[in-house]
Amino acid sequence: MFQNKTVFITGGASGMGLLSGKCFAAEGANVVLMDINQEALDAAVAECGGNTIGIQTDVTKYEQLVAAKDKAIETFGSIDIVLPCAGGAEGRLAEDYTEFKDRDIAIFDFGIDLNLKGAVYAAQVCLNQMAKQMSGVIIFLGSITGVEGGGSGAVAYSCAKSGLITGATKSLAQYGAKYNVRVNCVSPGPVLTREAMAKMETLIGRAADPQEIVDLILYLASDKAAFITGTNFLIDGGRNIMPKRKYEKK
Ligand SMILES: NC(=O)c1ccc[n+]([C@@H]2O[C@H](COP(=O)([O-])OP(=O)(O)OC[C@H]3O[C@@H](n4cnc5c(N)ncnc54)[C@H](O)[C@@H]3O)[C@@H](O)[C@H]2O)c1
Repeated sequence: MFQNKTVFITGGASGMGLLSGKCFAAEGANVVLMDINQEALDAAVAECGGNTIGIQTDVTKYEQLVAAKDKAIETFGSIDIVLPCAGGAEGRLAEDYTEFKDRDIAIFDFGIDLNLKGAVYAAQVCLNQMAKQMSGVIIFLGSITGVEGGGSGAVAYSCAKSGLITGATKSLAQYGAKYNVRVNCVSPGPVLTREAMAKMETLIGRAADPQEIVDLILYLASDKAAFITGTNFLIDGGRNIMPKRKYEKK
């Protein structure tokens, strides 16, 4: 389905980024995997096979994304699909479990840099090429946390994902339309890229298999979704319509 298409995936060494890479490669796409973790990236490139390259990239560093975009175009000649997957809750990634009021503000900045700026950077660096091609698809990874909040540990993560779901997706869809660039957002509930996600409740009564999310990504990236742009897709097992949970008072 994706012969001669090039997919630009950040956070591609693990989880849904890696699984997307594998699925796109299996459908004939050229795959550019980027990740901060070189060792995991090498393994991921081997796992994807086909026409896959790996470029060590920290998405919080704009110039590294520019260099990765240049390398992708030099290698494959186009960028057709952008999938910024690098992300995660700042408290978990920084292993900082202090309350938000006591937390070093640098951790908030880190969460925004990774989850909001990193994703928008990845899209922005590819837009010139997509405009030249007069075609392209950008699919952001939002989260149910961008809709319902993330509590003390994920304030930046929640702010960033809300920003992707609404501001980035809608603005870039409005802007990209004149270049035939579609922009959408996929916002999962709990996904079993980590065991711990099984604890998060859903109406369906389980967390998602990563393939369930990647199937939606593949659909949105394909020409079957040619009429879909500017939209967020909550894929959360009905979590957003569950009776509200109570937070404990001190
Ligand atoms: N897993 C879930 O339950 C879930 C739910 C909702 C949304 N999401 C979102 O989906 C996306 C993928 O989640 P996942 O669980 O598959 O991811 P994951 O944690 O398995 O993988 C994330 C990858 O990003 C890489 N990374 C971290 N910092 C980076 C940086 N600065 N630059 C480049 N790469 C970096 C990591 O090395 C890792 O390989 C994330 O944006 C996440 O927020 C996940």
